[in-house]
Amino acid sequence: MPSLRELTIETLTHLKENGQEQLALDAEARTILREWMLAARRGAAQAPVPQASNPPAPTKANTAPRSVEEKLAYLQQRAQNWGPARALGTLRDTMVFATGNPHARLMLVGEAPGYDEERLQEPFVGRAGQKLNQILAAAKLCREELYISNICKFRPSMGPNQGSSNRPPTDAEIAACLPLIMAEIRAIRPTCILCLGGTAAKGLLGTGASVASLRGKWFNCQGTPVRVTYHPSYLLRNDSTTAKRAVWEDFLAIMEQLNLNITPRQRAFFL
Ligand code: URA
Repeated sequence: MPSLRELTIETLTHLKENGQEQLALDAEARTILREWMLAARRGAAQAPVPQASNPPAPTKANTAPRSVEEKLAYLQQRAQNWGPARALGTLRDTMVFATGNPHARLMLVGEAPGYDEERLQEPFVGRAGQKLNQILAAAKLCREELYISNICKFRPSMGPNQGSSNRPPTDAEIAACLPLIMAEIRAIRPTCILCLGGTAAKGLLGTGASVASLRGKWFNCQGTPVRVTYHPSYLLRNDSTTAKRAVWEDFLAIMEQLNLNITPRQRAFFL
């Protein structure tokens, strides 16, 4: 299993390769990093000098991908063996990355793959995905023009007898996968993001506030406007007109942000 130091270096390298220049660190983290740096310098002073016949391997920064497609392919490959997530030992093995258009103007972010998503290795293909498809159809948005991803790239484990049961990711699981979705956002640079549910909001906005209190406002994640709505599975449990209207109003706000045509009939859905 990789050490904490190796995992930290992997995460920081990944953030740097994807354009993140700064990171807020508390005093304890700064102390630990300083000790690691001093230990590495001591080690380097004792290490043999590389010979001209044996040049250092190209750094990862030299081979950083360029196009959005290349960046996403690279991220998908990194996600496959994403050390910080694997090290937890609480997530299942199959990685479910994302689906849709790398040039999408709208990015939808959900929670984590469930039973069906793990089976088909695609986000939102189960019952919640069908509900999402209904909402997208009402908004005249098709999945092919969107980018759909999850905060957590692995189905959270519930032990050997999990069957088709699912659970939401823990804070540690969200934090472990966060560098991936953050890098996806920087690669795609969508016009806006819609968080589907509280877990997505917790990851992207760093708040544990309820969806009810986050709805109806614009937030910001890495310079991209973000809106929060209920997870489609909430509508599977609560099909009241009030709940449907709430989600629909959030989609209307997104459609306005994207300058999409909204018909009077669409505006009146669920009133
Ligand atoms: N729920 C999510 O949040 N994401 C999926 O991909 C499927 C269900």
